[in-house]
Amino acid sequence: MLKKPRGTRDFLPDEMEARRGVEGKMREVARRWGYREVCTPAFEDLDLFTMRSGDGIIEEMYVFEDKGGRKLALRPEITAAVIRMYINEAKVAPKPLRWCYFADCFRYERPQKGRYRQFWQFGVELIGADTALADAEVIMLAADMLDATGVTYDLRVGHLAFMKNLLAALEPSAQRRVMAHLDKKDSEGLALTLDGMGKPDLAASLTALVECRTLDEAFDIAGGIPDKERIKQTIGILDAQGVKYSLNFGIARGLDYYTGMVFEAFARNLGAENQISGGGAYRLSHLFGGDDVASCGFAIGFDRVMVSLGDVPPLHDPVVGLVCTGEGRTRALEVGRMLREAGIRTEMDLMERGLGVQLAHAAKGADYAVVIGRREAESGQVTIKNLATAEQKTVDLAAAIAEVRAHGAR
Ligand code: HAM
Repeated sequence: MLKKPRGTRDFLPDEMEARRGVEGKMREVARRWGYREVCTPAFEDLDLFTMRSGDGIIEEMYVFEDKGGRKLALRPEITAAVIRMYINEAKVAPKPLRWCYFADCFRYERPQKGRYRQFWQFGVELIGADTALADAEVIMLAADMLDATGVTYDLRVGHLAFMKNLLAALEPSAQRRVMAHLDKKDSEGLALTLDGMGKPDLAASLTALVECRTLDEAFDIAGGIPDKERIKQTIGILDAQGVKYSLNFGIARGLDYYTGMVFEAFARNLGAENQISGGGAYRLSHLFGGDDVASCGFAIGFDRVMVSLGDVPPLHDPVVGLVCTGEGRTRALEVGRMLREAGIRTEMDLMERGLGVQLAHAAKGADYAVVIGRREAESGQVTIKNLATAEQKTVDLAAAIAEVRAHGAR
């Protein structure tokens, strides 16, 4: 028996309904903030992802060569693709651009609960606004979107300027190595790496920075930060708007395109894979041949939000099982068309079974049975049976439609 590939999942209809319900809540929040949906290809030139991160990232991706010998990769994330698209299609559009996406990403990771090889992200990119207000908008939007799903989480906000200041004397590649340890909260590895670089003294200030929880302390530890006023303004906006967050200057973010404000959200009820969102301010466009436009965005790990929410009961509109005798069939097809035109989910029995068996089958999945026999075919009325209460009556189709609609979603 063939099985699905490792790290992928199948979704049955109940689960898809639950997922679409949560996705819809995120979409609605994005719409209210003016973020419009974009879509990029599922695969891109490999260069798009290695240009910034180096060849090391190939290990974590699905990379392949097509029949024309082109090196391609399934997208491991969508930010780089969105910026490529911005340069190709929308460079001259009035700024800022507010874009969002909901799409699957592919990473060659060791699968476990909440970590998959194919997973979905709901993300936004705000392109071309380089202000404290832009940074704050993106954080407030992330919080609004997560709140709309009902997930409980902790939001941590930081800024790379502090860490970068402390590491200013190191080569960019050495900075990246140190930040990777900080990102993984690997203090042993950090100490070893700093020793190897002849900078063991940095460990104490980095640890102090990671542990401090106020802006003033962070400014003291990291020294002269050029972005000081902007950082204070962003944080001031979040405070004034009542956003619930804590400051954390240890956030290094795994992806290496971030340049300023960074943030992450962690679901309270998840274990190891509890990071449900991450983002920040970044610059990528100039690397891909575009202008050096400032951008800011985040992506929510949709599957982790679903794991955190647990069993979301699928909420669906009432279902009508359309049941008929051979003599009623033509009229039943007509009634089915009219029920569907009225927006009602209607499933006709297809198995050519007796009325009793059809009704018993309808009772397993439908809320109502609409029965059309010879009597109904002749009178133009329908018999409607509430399958929960077994109450049954013969009425005009309009009255049946009204009754089903009054039932509401369940
Ligand atoms: P990221 O932190 O790599 O950021 O991914 C965003 C979210 O995707 C994570 O917080 C996590 O919830 C989810 N995620 C990542 N890997 C997996 C996986 N293997 N299985 C399930 N969920 C996963 C980005 O991708 C950036 N592009 C975010 C961004 C947008 N920054 C600026 N704009």
